[in-house]
Amino acid sequence: MNLTNYDALIKKAIDARSTSYSPYSSFKVGAAIITVDGEIFSGCNIENASFSETVCAERVAIYKAISEGKREFCAIAIVGGKDEISDYTYPCGACRQALSEFCSDQLEIVLYNGKAMEISTLGALFPSSFKKDDIK
Ligand code: THU
Repeated sequence: MNLTNYDALIKKAIDARSTSYSPYSSFKVGAAIITVDGEIFSGCNIENASFSETVCAERVAIYKAISEGKREFCAIAIVGGKDEISDYTYPCGACRQALSEFCSDQLEIVLYNGKAMEISTLGALFPSSFKKDDIK
């Protein structure tokens, strides 16, 4: 399912970014993922003094949804930046892997840089991924 209007999803990602806990990088990220039923779950990045315990906004968003029993998704919007949102923030490798556990290659990845949006797919950004069916 393709969304025709991404504004609401981007707005939720922007709202989530405002709660980012990022005292070490000062890089604030917000993400919002929408289910096939139209429900939106959002998340922000959460850093930690033990840096490797940091969790990205995308994983917070999808894991909130998963823990509420949701399993099918259409799109995820991501926004990031130190002060203003001025560049596209692409999902990191760990988040691409986490998304690929639950989302098809058709998942739309909606990036917003404060002025314009760019839409890609998980398949385009993370081809040849290692998935559940590869474990036999
Ligand atoms: N970050 C995200 O939340 N999502 C990404 O896809 C890229 C990076 C966060 C992690 C860290 O808190 C900060 O951005 C700087 O790397």
